[in-house]
Amino acid sequence: MSKIAIFASGSGSNAENIINFFKENKKIEISLVFSNNKNAGVIQRAVNLGVKHHIFSRTDFYNSEKVLQKLKSNNIDFIVLAGFMWLIPEYLIDAYPNTIINIHPALLPKYGGKGMYGMNVHKAVVENRDPESGITIHYVNKEYDDGNIIFQAKCKVKANDTPETVAKKVHELEYEHFPKVIEQLF
Ligand code: GAR
Repeated sequence: MSKIAIFASGSGSNAENIINFFKENKKIEISLVFSNNKNAGVIQRAVNLGVKHHIFSRTDFYNSEKVLQKLKSNNIDFIVLAGFMWLIPEYLIDAYPNTIINIHPALLPKYGGKGMYGMNVHKAVVENRDPESGITIHYVNKEYDDGNIIFQAKCKVKANDTPETVAKKVHELEYEHFPKVIEQLF
């Protein structure tokens, strides 16, 4: 049985979708949800779904190895970032080589990098009148949104779309593809 930890900072709708997708899976278990934000919606979702959670501070993450110890003591083999907004520190990347993936709400390499997350991305896409947006699932390295791309899917952006309507289209792509892409990596 492979054990996955999900890291999320906000609402956690992707985390919930992934947990539900793997509920009956015999090979993959979503064992733990990690968050840097005790008020994040993802915590309540994890509680409701019966998945353990762990909250950590900036100091825990960047100046200690508490998160790594928690991952190891729970025998986590693979990490999924689903709306996680902090840069992954080097010690974690080294401890989990090619076993941390992220979803980004745009077609990387466009609209990636520091500050480019969530609604900021969708606002930039609409302001630039891009005809399309989408999702990118990629391996995580030491830079923001920079690792090798595993999968992309596109949606159209129309002249009357707003950042909110683009966010909705992108979330739909995320719900459809992210769990299946994770499954295919095992
Ligand atoms: C998702 O759209 C995800 O792609 C994005 O945050 C949203 C989280 O939604 N991630 C990033 O912007 C990472 N740079 P959720 O909390 O409802 O799953």
